Formats: sequence, C-alpha cells, structure tokens
Amino acid sequence: MFLVLWLFACLVAATPVPHAKRTNVPSGWSRVRQHSPDAFLPLRFGLTQPNTDMATLESLLHTVSHPDSPSYGQHWSAERVASHFAASNESISTVVAWLASSGFDANRISVNKRSGWVALRNATVAEAESLLETEYHVFVHSASGQEHVACEEYHLPAHVAPHVQLITPSVDFDAVLRVRSPHMSIDIGQPGAGTVFPHRTQAVDALLPGTEHCDSQITPACLRALYNFTYTPTLTNSENPFAIVEYTPQAYVPSDLDHFAANFSPALVGVRPAFVSIDGGSIDGAAFGASGFDYNGESNLDLEYAMTLVSGAVTLYQVGDFQMGASFNNLLDALDGSYCSFEGGDDPQDDGIYPDTLDGGYQGDDCGTVKPANVISTSYGYNEADLSAAYTARQCAEYAKLGLMGVTVLYSSGDNGVAGNGALCLTPDGEQTPSGKIFNPSFPSTCPFVTSVGATQINPGKTVADPESACQQVISSGGGFSNYFALPEYQQGAVQAYLSRNPPPYSNTTYNSTGTSRAIPDLSANGANYATAIEGGFYLVYGTSASAPVVASMLAMINDARLAAGKSTIGFINPAIYTPAFEGAFHDIVAGSNPGCGTRGFAAAEGYDPVTGLGTPQFDKLLELWMDLP
Ligand SMILES: *[C@@H]1O[C@H](CO)[C@@H](O)[C@H](O)[C@H]1NC(C)=O
Ligand SMILES: *[C@@H]1O[C@H](CO)[C@@H](O)[C@H](O)[C@H]1NC(C)=O
Ligand SMILES: *[C@@H]1O[C@H](CO)[C@@H](O)[C@H](O)[C@H]1NC(C)=O
Ligand SMILES: *[C@@H]1O[C@H](CO)[C@@H](O)[C@H](O)[C@H]1NC(C)=O
Ligand SMILES: *[C@@H]1O[C@H](CO)[C@@H](O)[C@H](O)[C@H]1NC(C)=O
Repeated sequence: MFLVLWLFACLVAATPVPHAKRTNVPSGWSRVRQHSPDAFLPLRFGLTQPNTDMATLESLLHTVSHPDSPSYGQHWSAERVASHFAASNESISTVVAWLASSGFDANRISVNKRSGWVALRNATVAEAESLLETEYHVFVHSASGQEHVACEEYHLPAHVAPHVQLITPSVDFDAVLRVRSPHMSIDIGQPGAGTVFPHRTQAVDALLPGTEHCDSQITPACLRALYNFTYTPTLTNSENPFAIVEYTPQAYVPSDLDHFAANFSPALVGVRPAFVSIDGGSIDGAAFGASGFDYNGESNLDLEYAMTLVSGAVTLYQVGDFQMGASFNNLLDALDGSYCSFEGGDDPQDDGIYPDTLDGGYQGDDCGTVKPANVISTSYGYNEADLSAAYTARQCAEYAKLGLMGVTVLYSSGDNGVAGNGALCLTPDGEQTPSGKIFNPSFPSTCPFVTSVGATQINPGKTVADPESACQQVISSGGGFSNYFALPEYQQGAVQAYLSRNPPPYSNTTYNSTGTSRAIPDLSANGANYATAIEGGFYLVYGTSASAPVVASMLAMINDARLAAGKSTIGFINPAIYTPAFEGAFHDIVAGSNPGCGTRGFAAAEGYDPVTGLGTPQFDKLLELWMDLP
C-alpha cells in the first residue's frame, strides 16, 4: 500500500501540464522544417514575479500615497523595490531542482535572482524537446527571409508551472519584424509617426506683455496668473531633480532657449538643462538632417516653459540614439536596472534594442544608470491599441514601482479628444482607422499609476480671472476610458459620479461604458496659444504637450518646499488629489468637450470629467495642502 501511494504521488508530481500554447502562426511567417535535434537552444526560464498584479500594486502604492495612510510619504528605496518584486527563493529552488532531476548538471544551470531568470547552458533541441514535451520548428518570415525558432505548445510539471512566467524560445514570435533603417525604427520620437506632438499655427508678430492678452497668446506670465504660481526654489536641481524627457531625434535648440529666455527670463540666457544622455541620446540632430519644427518644436516648448517656471532647475533625459531611436521602456531600463530583464525584458518589436548594431549606433545598454528624478514629465504617447495588453501591463507595473520610490510620473493625455494619435479610431476587430467609430485612448496615460494631464484654454475675449474651458482650439484634450486597465480605487467615486450625473450618449460598443475602467486625464492645464521660440522666431503652439510640463513644474516646486521642510517628495499624487480635501485646490472646468471619432466626445461637467480631469491646479492651495501632510 505504501509503495503504491508513493508511486502515485510521484506520478502526480511529475505529470506535465500544458503551460503555454499558440493558436496560430502570425501572418507573414511560415513553418519550414523541424529543428535539428543536436542544434543548441539558448533556453531561458523567466520566473514568476511576485506582487505584480494590478490589485497588489494598487494597494502597495496606497500605503505610501494616500493621505489617510499611516505610512504616507514613507517611500521605498530602490533596493527594497527590487527585492520585493524579485523572484522568490522557492521559485528558484523549484526550477533548479527540476532541471537537476531532469539530468542537467549544476554547472549548466545559471540563476540571476535579481532579474528572475534561470538559464540552461548549451541545451540541445533534443534535450529541450524532451524536457518540455514539445517539438521545435524553424519558421521563416516571407518578406525579410528572417528565421525564428518556436514551438506550438509546451508542458511543465504541475509543481513547476506556477513558478515560471515564460520560457524563451518557445511559443512567442517576438522576433524583430520591423525592418530598421535610420530614423525609421522606434516610432516614439519620430515626427508624424503617431505620437503626441504639439501643433503650431501662425508665427507671432509681437509678443504681448502682461496678462491682458492671454486669450490670444499664452506666456509664462499668463500661466503664473492663471494658476497663482509664483515660487522661487530654495533647493538646487541636483537636490530636487525635476526631469523632462525627450526622445531622439526630437531635440532642443540652444539658441531658441536663449531667445525665449531673453524675452521672458533674462537670468536664464545661457542656462541649459542638466543633460542626461540615455542609450546614446543626443541633441545634435542637425547633423542627421533632423531640424525644424517637427524635430525641435516639442523639446523647445517643454524646456522653455519648464525652465522659466522653475527658475532653470530642470534635468533633460534625452533618450535614444539617431540610428535606432528609443521607447519608454528604454528610459525605464535606465531608471531601474531590475526592469531591463523583468518579465522578459525589452521587446524588439516596440523597444530600442541596445547595444545598437546599426551603423554608428550606440554601443552601450543603459541599465540602472540613472537615479530617477523626483518629478518626470513626458509629452509623448502611444494609442493604447498600438501595444498589446501584456506589454502595457509590464510597463505599467514599472510606473507603480517608481511611485513606491516617491517619483511623480506625468504623461500628456493626447491631442485628439476621444480619438487616438493621428485622429485614428478603432473598428470592432481592433483595427485603427480614421473611419473607426470606437474611442481610442492613449497609453501610458491609461496606466492607473501615472498622472495624465489634459488641456484647457482661455476662451476668446476672456481673461485669466475667468473660468477656462476644455481646449478646443487646434487640438482637443485627450480623454476617455481605458480598454485595458480597470478603474483604480482612488478614482471610483469621481468616475461613477460623472457617469451617473452626465450619462454619455454613446453605447457600450463605442467605449467601455461599464464604469469599471480607468478614466483619463487626471487633471489639466492650459494647452492653447503658447508663444514658443522655434527656428529663430516665435510661434503659437498647442497641445497637452504644453500642459504636462506646466503641471510638472508646479509639482516640482511643491517638492522643493516639502524637502526644504524635511518632508518626503509627493510621489504618486493620484490617491491624494482625488480625496475631498483636495477638491478646493482645483479650478473645476465645466465647459467644452473633447470631440473625436465623429462625435463631440465627452462633455466637461461639474466635478471630475474625462476631458479635463479634476480641473486645473491652484498652486497656492495645493502647496498648502501638501505642506500639511506628513
Ligand atoms: C533567499 O536566498 C538568499 C540566498 O540564497 C538568502 O540570503 C535569503 O535570506 C533568502 N530569502 C528568503 C526570504 O528566504
Ligand atoms: C557551449 O556553448 C559555448 C558558447 O555558448 C561554446 O563555446 C561551447 O563549445 C559549448 N559547449 C559544448 C559542450 O558544446
Ligand atoms: C495667490 O496665492 C497667494 C499665496 O501665495 C495668496 O495670498 C493669494 O490670495 C492667492 N491669490 C488668489 C487670487 O487666489
Ligand atoms: C470594461 O473594462 C473592464 C475593466 O478593465 C473590463 O473588465 C471589461 O471587460 C470591459 N468591458 C468591455 C465591454 O470591454
Ligand atoms: C451592451 O449593452 C447591451 C444593451 O444594453 C447589452 O445587451 C450588452 O450585454 C452590453 N454588452 C456588453 C459587452 O456589456
């Protein structure tokens, strides 16, 4: 009896279960032959990363970011974050013991605990096939001729399966499909490639001083008056780093910064942002033929306003070389070394892969090289639908980790209202086209762990003392509901109140109307008629691209006051700003909407709305509220 039971137990433990399966071969690829049994496979096992589901991340962040939490502001060190999300010892020992019992010598097994990978040295195809009960085939991509090794399905013992997140190579087709050529690879910094870019209209004949003409021309003085934002920092930028992110080939032009400063902040003539190059980031675009508004407009706008509003104390994260370009993941790799290999690492389809093998490409791979700034503002974005849900979830978890460390991460919400970049909307089968009818929100804004910034305007004929409206000049404020991310707790009351008081006239086939998905933006600031120095002159520029650095500047100065008083940074602000205590610290925007996809979009309304969020900041009130928090 004992023997029988023991045998039975062994059988149960060893019974392999299917772990991953692919149902189709991606278009363009075809299976050409069985892989040769004695070829080597670089077999790697990505271990399950604990605590990375959205609900766990949300509750961890709540403890350090919600004003009612006893540990408000007690942010985590980078080491604590890395170890909290590192693979468990149990996962490592289970996978290693299984490999050993399958006949692999210890010297063929290597473990990287911090990054959560176990690798098998020199596994042959035959060994891998027997280990995983599978068959490996070679696939060829018809257009490029590129080969890829993959299986259809594989199995793991039942007791091992929960400890493994993914195995490479296996079912995935993460092979590089995009044909890379200079200036054509990663879309994020590329003009016209579907990212959020500011728009400009006419050249400015004359700069208008004072605050009398802010309805036709926004200047730093207008913004200071609108948001009662006058503050001189006491700390230096290295004591309280505030970073603006730009993606090569977008780059600022030094003479334009000086031209702007000469007119609006003479003390800053000759002052440059503290330059941090990531993955070969460079501002020497002219050498690559990358100049003009499309290449300089975004960077000039962001830096001219941010530097002026915070008396020069700005760091520039310039990300990506001119050959490959870069994505948000490349920035995150530099800010957190553990992210470089987290859940499989960068995706060659959507991220820059460094070292860059293209001619003249950057030979390094910046991984954990930059200590994150206290506030990080980015005026670029994807359409959520550009990316897979898995890709966005991985990146979104990383924003939660930055929040745990006390970093405020801001993204602009997009310039096409309820439509996506390029005015694209979705069809029922997920395609993005100008004739689509389904709303198309932007990412990373829809990640519940970033703060999304929309745009407002001063109405024609009105002054800085009058209420603003949702921006509907040239651009319309990106807003709406995520198709990927659930409604975070901090936003529940606000979103449900909006939907019940102002039921949108669209069915559940037009947007996720359940009231259970993340709404954007979180707040907003003026995004129309910014006088901006570009190409030696001044132009009027529009976009949530302008709004994000303005909000970021205010938050950076609140950090200045808190740090000077011996307090923590404000970190992830969303759980705080949605509390009733913060209600009076925003100008509620109740007029306008965010048209797109052949509709007038959502309507701004009393309280939260998915057009302007909670409204525009009142700096003095926010400062006071945050100074009262521990
Ligand atoms: C995991 O293993 C490492 C080294 O093997 C050890 O230092 C650490 O204490 C272990 N952690 C736990 C939670 O057991
Ligand atoms: C194992 O792989 C390495 C390169 O990764 C190679 O140099 C070595 O010869 C291989 N060992 C065997 C036994 O094939
Ligand atoms: C602007 O802020 C100051 C404090 O910095 C305050 O005294 C003043 O009343 C505020 N003005 C308005 C119009 O809210
Ligand atoms: C709406 O969003 C929620 C939360 O993300 C999701 O669970 C639900 O499936 C979505 N509904 C539809 C119809 O897409
Ligand atoms: C959408 O609404 C219709 C009509 O109210 C309802 O029958 C349907 O179940 C809803 N679909 C989803 C996916 O929620």
